[in-house]
Amino acid sequence: MNELNLENYWMPFTGNKAFKANPRLLVEADGMYYKSSEGKKILDGISGLWCCNAGHCHPHIVKAIQDQIATMDYATAFNMAHPKVFELATKIASITPEGLNRIFFANSGSEAVDTAMKVTLAYHLSKGENQRTKFISREKGYHGVNFGGTSVGGIPNNRKFFGSSFNDLNCLSNTWDPENMSFSKGQPKWGKHFADELEVFLQEHDSSTIAGVIIEPVVGSGGVIIPPEGYLERIREICTKHKIILIFDEVITGFGRVGAAFASERFNVTPDIITMAKGLTGAAVPMSAVAFHDDIYTQIISNSEEVIELFHGYTYSGHPVAAAAGIASLEVYEKEGLFERARDLEPYFEEAIHSLQGENSILDIRNIGLMAAVQFSSDDKPSTEKASKVFLHCYENNVLVRFSVDYLVLSPALIAEKQHIDKIVSTIREAIRSL
Ligand SMILES: Cc1ncc(COP(=O)(O)O)c(C=O)c1O
Repeated sequence: MNELNLENYWMPFTGNKAFKANPRLLVEADGMYYKSSEGKKILDGISGLWCCNAGHCHPHIVKAIQDQIATMDYATAFNMAHPKVFELATKIASITPEGLNRIFFANSGSEAVDTAMKVTLAYHLSKGENQRTKFISREKGYHGVNFGGTSVGGIPNNRKFFGSSFNDLNCLSNTWDPENMSFSKGQPKWGKHFADELEVFLQEHDSSTIAGVIIEPVVGSGGVIIPPEGYLERIREICTKHKIILIFDEVITGFGRVGAAFASERFNVTPDIITMAKGLTGAAVPMSAVAFHDDIYTQIISNSEEVIELFHGYTYSGHPVAAAAGIASLEVYEKEGLFERARDLEPYFEEAIHSLQGENSILDIRNIGLMAAVQFSSDDKPSTEKASKVFLHCYENNVLVRFSVDYLVLSPALIAEKQHIDKIVSTIREAIRSL
């Protein structure tokens, strides 16, 4: 790889200097594995970036993409369409919670979030509630990197370089409290009261100025923080009471990650809007979508006197190749029963990951479905250093995990087998012992 010029590519969310001094390149992928440029076979413990839910290069998805690209590369997206995008919208609506049947397409999770926020504003405006302009969000929340998503993001590093002009209310605490819930398996039993912060805030401020509340039902990038029992139900209740739109950002939790089509189904709490991406196409082609409640669509579309009811959309909204990949992915999930499979594997995954409790330096372990985090303590060395060292040790031993700040994240593909889980966990154990 000496001949490869590494200088021009500005890598996202990456220490460019460190990476370019010691590059790690992936060149092939199949099922649960990557192949590196040195020819090493690497077990993918994070399904790409929580996204290759059906495993890499699933033949049915590959074939659908190949067929589509050879038939029609692109179809004009405004005032024109193609059949597959309607087919995909119908398929998505068949697995979203009841009432969330109107599907808007974009290309990334970030765009899905901005679409959800813009439509929330348009909905209130259309009802004459022009004063509802603010969004409430949560500490540690990640909603992508566009301006809307950044403004409601709760991870300080993602905001601090971009000025302080954001007009959101990032006021809800995250629900992680190690003293009261560390090493909980699945949903912590303690912590429902965190939701009451929303009611208190709305009583102290003018609730009629709030357009929406946006949260990830399970915090993903911020560290796999599982909602305490009763928490999401209470948030739903408060939003309904104050006529505030509730957005669940399911970019990670959609398409089987939590052992159901969506976290909304798993927790039996229905928001007004769901954002989704990642597993939608198994990440083979970039695509995201937003599912809106019928009432939101009807309010905006029926009450508009404009020829075009909503001035929003992307050149690549519903791109034919992405639509083909989306349809094929949903077919694979259904035919192979991958959401159920994830749910069935969850107890094994849970026991395996929690078997790390008791190893040095572990402050907490959290899991639900096929997502988990291992949180390091800072007793001897900085926890951030431990997380990055464990990541590197695992990679050198042919297992790809993800680290962020002071925790490791796992999100194997829904096709994972017990032996893959065993290998991932035993490699992490060795890495921790090597610290
Ligand atoms: C919950 C959530 N929302 C939004 C995004 C942004 O998605 P993208 O990186 O595709 O823009 C992510 C990405 O990880 C995410 O986890």
